[in-house]
Amino acid sequence: MTEYERIAVAPIAGALGAEIDGVNVADDLDDAVIDEIRRALLDHLVIFFRGQNLPVARHKAFSRRFGDLFIHPNFQLGQEDKEMVYLLRQPGDTSVAGETWHADTTMMETPPMGAILYALETPQYGGDTLFANQYLAYETLSEGMQDMLGGLKAMHSDVRVAGPDAGVNAKRTSKVRDDANWRPTVHAHPIVRVHPETGRKCLFVNPVYTMHIEGMTEAESAPILAFLYQHQRRPEFTCRFRWQTGSIAFWDNRCLLHLAIHDNSDAIRHMQRTQIAG
Ligand code: SIN
Repeated sequence: MTEYERIAVAPIAGALGAEIDGVNVADDLDDAVIDEIRRALLDHLVIFFRGQNLPVARHKAFSRRFGDLFIHPNFQLGQEDKEMVYLLRQPGDTSVAGETWHADTTMMETPPMGAILYALETPQYGGDTLFANQYLAYETLSEGMQDMLGGLKAMHSDVRVAGPDAGVNAKRTSKVRDDANWRPTVHAHPIVRVHPETGRKCLFVNPVYTMHIEGMTEAESAPILAFLYQHQRRPEFTCRFRWQTGSIAFWDNRCLLHLAIHDNSDAIRHMQRTQIAG
């Protein structure tokens, strides 16, 4: 178990997730603290901070300590600040962004390494986020299944979550590009990914962006993917985070899935997010 000297790290579940104490994220943190935060992220996959006050400039400054900021192509709607994404769920919305299990933006050739989500306004209850450990998802497959998946890639596309045919903008306040000039982004990724920092293998498919297995038709790959989608979110692989205004979740997008729960839907849920380039 990693020893920490500058931060306190308290796991919230058996599979993944830990709350970090002793850090004011808006401060200009020294390198030793940032190193420990990075270690905690690698150990626990998603880390949480409570009671923070994170203006936009400080949110970006903290994020940049872990890499370049990623610009999400589908959230570019002419706003001046291309780096910050706001996820606002208002009364009347019938959907919330990210409500199906996914890793972020996996249609990109190099998906982001992580995301830092800060709660501006949260419901008194509800609107939690679930996370699922994809190392465990891989490690608990049979050897036969691991061997079969080991040589395969899957195609990922954003066609279900953006563009004129996705139909998501009618259901929610947070809009994405759906103009006629939009084109899907499509890339293949290994189904079993090796994490570039930990060297561990994890499952890297998700029901939002993954379309089919490379070299197979959608019909041929559907039963295999359906099994993996069921398996990868088994309750014992997950943790659940209950938000308060001022909470932060920082997740490693390379080895987990997550989803936002669209409940208590008469209440406002307003989040501010950066993504860190892979
Ligand atoms: C996301 O999928 O990035 C958003 C998750 C959330 O709002 O809880």
